[in-house]
Amino acid sequence: MTWTPESWQTRPAVQQPEYPDRAALDAALAELRRLPPLVTSWEVNALKAKLAQAQAGHSFVLQGGDCAESFADCESSLIANRLKVLLQMSLVLVHGLRMPVVRIGRIAGQYAKPRSADVETRDGVTLPCYRGDTVNAPEFTAASRIPNPQLLLEGHKRSAMTINFVRGLIDGGFADLHHPEYWDLDWVHHAPLAEQYSKRVQAITDSVKFMETLAGQTIGEFNRVDFYTSHEALLLNAEAAQTRRVPRQPGYYNLSTHLPWIGLRTAAIDGAHVEYMRGIRNPVAVKVGASMSAEWIAELCRVLNPDREPGRLTLIHRLGAGKIDAGLPKIIDAVRAAGHDVLWLCDPMHGNTQTAGNGLKTRRFDDILSEVEASFAIHAACGTRLGGVHLELTGEDVTECLGGARDLTETDLERAYRSAVDPRLNYEQALELALKIAAHGGHKL
Ligand code: PEP
Ligand code: CO
Repeated sequence: MTWTPESWQTRPAVQQPEYPDRAALDAALAELRRLPPLVTSWEVNALKAKLAQAQAGHSFVLQGGDCAESFADCESSLIANRLKVLLQMSLVLVHGLRMPVVRIGRIAGQYAKPRSADVETRDGVTLPCYRGDTVNAPEFTAASRIPNPQLLLEGHKRSAMTINFVRGLIDGGFADLHHPEYWDLDWVHHAPLAEQYSKRVQAITDSVKFMETLAGQTIGEFNRVDFYTSHEALLLNAEAAQTRRVPRQPGYYNLSTHLPWIGLRTAAIDGAHVEYMRGIRNPVAVKVGASMSAEWIAELCRVLNPDREPGRLTLIHRLGAGKIDAGLPKIIDAVRAAGHDVLWLCDPMHGNTQTAGNGLKTRRFDDILSEVEASFAIHAACGTRLGGVHLELTGEDVTECLGGARDLTETDLERAYRSAVDPRLNYEQALELALKIAAHGGHKL
């Protein structure tokens, strides 16, 4: 079948909102088609080349951010803190793993969520489920829950404001290796792991000075880093509206993000999401889990990367600490048997979700760490390589995941549980995980 940005419409599209007013949706999509894009094809191509490097074993990918961004969180300090924690983690990883780190945020467009049920019933009243801030609002009223296409435009604006601020911070020297204090979060000095972090930062600052003394000049490469965006490409109408041709390049690019991914619930081979993603030029990722057969995984590789282009396809396995030993080798074998090579990332969050005694959704730091550790070991044993991690985290001092150096308990969860969806690693837990991963490079302090 010939691919077009709209050919997905011939396939079953799950997890899509039902807009009562088709004309209003069409008007919003027409506006979305006209507005300037959020990213450029050059950046998209540059990321694909970087992912190819990671796939070849020359770098490590750190992908992270909120489970779902919210319109309310489109605020300067929250965005800066999210960027800071990712930069700090990446610094620790560069130092420990002795290799470049590709930084990708779940940011500037991670607004729409797949849900397990289409509707929600409370006290005999049934309304559409909340699907994220670009679709509807969480309050349980008909006015809030009915999908509103204007929110797609609001999401585009907020994504643009977010990416604009991130670019400004990075270009302005926020990520300058000469000034790691710019990325410090207020409470870093009180964190249990502050000393370990500071030692790594000092070692890097010393190396930068040493290199520049040798070179006899400031090295421009140390002044800035690259930062890319990603989100789950869930709402196909909106993704297609931002899929465009660009001058002097073949094909179509999704210019709403650098790296769109397909979630576990929308990865059916003959479904609309796979059809849409197969035709765009961006690098793409797919979440893979224990419920997928070897044939399904092999077919995803064939359909999404028919030319076996390095950097094009990333598989993000999310199995759970208890299932990874049995599940991951089968997935690796399936890809290999199909004659494909992919970039492997581990999402140690989504297979480890549990409900605490008080009903809050949580994850244990130890399960998260154990899934990452198992991923390193299993890939090494299978002759493949773990090329990075995909995490849900925040730059704030929240209490959503259990454990970590401060050993958060179920009682602590109530203190600062702010996520509307999945529980995130807080700032300290995120940094702790990075320090543990960094130890895999064998470069201790
Ligand atoms: C997510 O990444 O927030 C998510 C819903 O993941 P998955 O598709 O792996 O369940
Ligand atoms: Co999530």
